[in-house]
Amino acid sequence: MRAPVLALATLVAALAGCDADASADEDDDSSDGGKADDLDPTTFGCKQVTGIALADLAAIDDPIATFLIKRAPRCASDYGELVAQLAQVDADGCAGKPQLTTRLVSDDARVDPKPDNYRTVTTRACGSRPPHALLWTLLGVNDREDMAKRSFVEMQALDRNSGLYDYWVFQGGAFEFVGNSLQARDQAIRCGACHRDGGVLMKELDDPWLHWEAAARPLPGADAIFARHGALMGNRGDGKELETLVRAGNDAIIASRIAADRRPEARAVRKLLRPLFCSEQVNLDAGGTQVDAPLSGLDADALVDPSLGVTQVLTLDPAAYTAALATVGQRLDGVPDRVDTEFAFAFPERSGFEHAYLAALQREGLVDEDLLLDVLTIDFTRPLFSDARCGLLQFVPESLPQIDAASIRAGLDAALAASAPATGSAAASLREHLADTADAPAHRERVRSFLAACNARDDQPFLEDLLRYTSLTRDLVRSTTSLIEHAEQLPRASVQVASAAHLDPATCTLAQ
Ligand code: HEC
Repeated sequence: MRAPVLALATLVAALAGCDADASADEDDDSSDGGKADDLDPTTFGCKQVTGIALADLAAIDDPIATFLIKRAPRCASDYGELVAQLAQVDADGCAGKPQLTTRLVSDDARVDPKPDNYRTVTTRACGSRPPHALLWTLLGVNDREDMAKRSFVEMQALDRNSGLYDYWVFQGGAFEFVGNSLQARDQAIRCGACHRDGGVLMKELDDPWLHWEAAARPLPGADAIFARHGALMGNRGDGKELETLVRAGNDAIIASRIAADRRPEARAVRKLLRPLFCSEQVNLDAGGTQVDAPLSGLDADALVDPSLGVTQVLTLDPAAYTAALATVGQRLDGVPDRVDTEFAFAFPERSGFEHAYLAALQREGLVDEDLLLDVLTIDFTRPLFSDARCGLLQFVPESLPQIDAASIRAGLDAALAASAPATGSAAASLREHLADTADAPAHRERVRSFLAACNARDDQPFLEDLLRYTSLTRDLVRSTTSLIEHAEQLPRASVQVASAAHLDPATCTLAQ
């Protein structure tokens, strides 16, 4: 398993060599110790490494491999020593800077009077390394423990050779190399169960954050945790700055993923285009904008994929939302007497990663606006979990002699034609869409008229239908991903909804 991946990583490295982040900190990490030592396993300070042979670590150029393994004085025995080693070995460019920044997230602290679940996301940005290049997370943090004595840390770091993230586990004085972004998105390593796109994970990327700290809204319990463990946590960050950092980290991965998959010899056109057809990753968003207030409006992104480029706001009667919650029997398991999250109407949405990925495909000339809308408007009232749209990925050829928007379109059309699709099927619709290369405005018009139909409905029956549909997508996130670990994160409704349920594109009523 390992050998082909490393071979691929090396190939990617050649392509990603001009990556902006990589060139920005070219000189930096080689300042002391010297590159030669980083290549010779007999000189590595820490040799307790699993998941990769020490000799193969020469090809891995991320800050974990460099500072905690190759140049470490020895294998850190616990978290306290790990942080101390970094301060010592990775000190360049860090004088006078807070070396660590930590954000706290809790799946229950906002709504549960007895919260028992806090995680950290910590970054360390020294040298001229970007802040998204080294991250780690601690699980089940509290204000009573001796944090320095922890011996389990999940870590990820940007590899300057591959341009991808490497996922690592530090456990009891040893390091396990779990794999990289491509293996995560292929679901070939366990971290990929949640880091499904191979990037930095922030389940709730957009404001309002249900579970992260926000500058004006400290997370209950966070003061005590920072007071107890300040030295090991550093600066106190929040959802806002983490969002910027996560987007930057994911942009870096997107560029490297596309560079790897677009090589004709990779025969990976289907992987290259998967985010256009299928949802790899899911984010959580909320419709409410004020704490514990019923829903009074909705952005179009609660109903359709933002990559369609249609924006609109639906104004809603808060009383209709409260009544609709009662009709569908919504509850927040784990918190008695609560029917909703702090911000109303938490819903799964297509991830920010995929939105950025599709924009990158367009910038790189791998899809054009017409092809993008031709595909995204298939079953567009199911922006997530559309088996109809995702099923069309099989018509994308695995390999093409030339990989650009025109060849991809031609290859897709030929495969669809060869399958002689039944009238009315998703495949037949896509063929019709492809036949007209100037139908982007018409596609957008269809989406706009769907939103207008939703707006024209009476608020309460519309919201009941929307809550039923959202109950389905919440259940699908729970059952098809590992992302929802606590009942308090997402409400449940007491309704049965068919797995193919969706809002009708013409009438905005629930069809099931
Ligand atoms: C059950 C889901 C799940 C699995 C499996 C998982 N993670 Fe994560 N991880 C998360 C979530 C969720 C976050 C971000 C916090 C949030 O959004 O609540 C996160 C955050 C992180 C972070 C902080 C940076 C970031 O991406 O936000 C690191 C580092 C990390 N995980 C490493 C790992 C490694 C290494 C593995 C595999 C050994 C792994 N994770 C497996 C869910 C998971």
